[in-house]
Amino acid sequence: MKILGILGSPDPKGGSAQLLLTALKAAEKEGVLTEIVRLYDKEIKPCIGCIRNEEPLCKYPCIFEDFGKELLTKIYNSDGLIIATPIYWFGPSGPVKLLIDRMTCLENMISFGEPSYMEGKVVGVIAVGADAGAVFTGAYLLTALNSMGAIIPPWALAYSFKSKKAIFDKKAVMDAFNIGLLTAKTIKFLKGEKQELRYIQNEKLCEEIKEEIIKTLELYKEDTYYERKPLRRSSI
Ligand SMILES: Cc1cc2nc3c(=O)[nH]c(=O)nc-3n(C[C@H](O)[C@H](O)[C@H](O)COP(=O)(O)O)c2cc1C
Repeated sequence: MKILGILGSPDPKGGSAQLLLTALKAAEKEGVLTEIVRLYDKEIKPCIGCIRNEEPLCKYPCIFEDFGKELLTKIYNSDGLIIATPIYWFGPSGPVKLLIDRMTCLENMISFGEPSYMEGKVVGVIAVGADAGAVFTGAYLLTALNSMGAIIPPWALAYSFKSKKAIFDKKAVMDAFNIGLLTAKTIKFLKGEKQELRYIQNEKLCEEIKEEIIKTLELYKEDTYYERKPLRRSSI
């Protein structure tokens, strides 16, 4: 059983990375293998829309030989995905959108008389911003993935507006922890194991995971983080 963590931020120590690691650590506690891929590591070519009814070219593993193809293979070989993205203008980052588009080849296997290769994979989403747009971003990603055949467990969206300080956002850490747990448990449930798919409020474990992540990522103390200046508005 394997969960692929997909980091859609250019910052390997940023808020998205912090919450993604939280989710993956929780999944590991359920005995599931995890791997993390960083979308900004190499180029993902944009989908060129070769999907056609007359001549079905769009099929896994895609016509491009690039990092996108490597990622598609990793997705194909995973039972679950947790996508963590920064919120960029009320949506996911560019590379996350590029990957979603390229995943059409997994879904389009239905044109070849096969099930969608996304069918039955379990997905969770983490969105991190500084201001607004988490629900747009999460709803977009979960809708797209579900429309490809993926399964959304309960409590599948975590978000924080604490930007680079997301690991200090207690609610977001607890939510990310539950995404990891519930993605893992849903995978097991689908494989026939009896599971209770409930939100677990484990403050002690979340605190331990938070400390581990601060150490692993060598993060600064909470009050030394960069914070965006408030908007300057003209006075009335
Ligand atoms: C191009 C761009 C667009 C952004 N748009 C939003 C936005 O719409 N809503 C928001 O809350 N934050 C927005 N932000 C702030 C980032 O989401 C925030 O810095 C976040 O911490 C980035 O995630 P990371 O720490 O994982 O890199 C934007 C940042 C950039 C660079």
